[in-house]
Amino acid sequence: MKFFLDTAEVDKIKRFADLGLVDGITTNPTLIMKSGKEHKSVIQEIDKIIDGPISVEGIATNAEDIIKEAEEFINWGKNIVVKVPMSEEGIKAVKLLSKRGIKTNVTLVFSAAQALLVAKAGATYVSPFVGRLDDVSFDGIEIIAQIKQIYENYGFKTQILVASVRSPLHVIAAAELGAHVCTMPPEVLEKMFKHPFTDAGLEIFRKDWDKANKIKK
Ligand code: E4P
Repeated sequence: MKFFLDTAEVDKIKRFADLGLVDGITTNPTLIMKSGKEHKSVIQEIDKIIDGPISVEGIATNAEDIIKEAEEFINWGKNIVVKVPMSEEGIKAVKLLSKRGIKTNVTLVFSAAQALLVAKAGATYVSPFVGRLDDVSFDGIEIIAQIKQIYENYGFKTQILVASVRSPLHVIAAAELGAHVCTMPPEVLEKMFKHPFTDAGLEIFRKDWDKANKIKK
């Protein structure tokens, strides 16, 4: 399973990239705003750290403008993926971009029906937003299972990129279902390291080490 970080914060990307845990990056206008940096320059900065795919999102909503944005974004790094909104115009743009070999990530996907359209258009990635579905009392992970089944039934090549991840439980559920990629905020990746029994166990071993050394003396 590939791990992408859902952030444009360079320090956090560096921290986890140094551990070899970051296979790619996803961004959106909100995450760019939170980075406090200019869009193009922060993507170029991230590109120097990460060799894997970096998803970049614009604001265009009609196919012609989405393609114009894509033509600009792909020059910002060596492995740029263009985020395209889930809509009729978005699907039209994906079809054209795919034919030109430009990688796409269809964002704001909330149903298996939408994900089926995304795969038929030939997108590189589909981004179902599990956390935002959970927020409104729909089971976000349930649609990952549906999408996985549908894609397998027909051998679609589009990769399932689980997005809007809020906790390690989302990551585990996505992994159990065999999603290709999970994009997560750095805070979620940090939480994956933790278990109170690990800390308690280390403390016991440390104390017992001291006791054993006292006995020897
Ligand atoms: C993915 O590409 C999106 O940027 C992201 O996962 C959205 O997450 P949110 O619902 O926490 O904003």
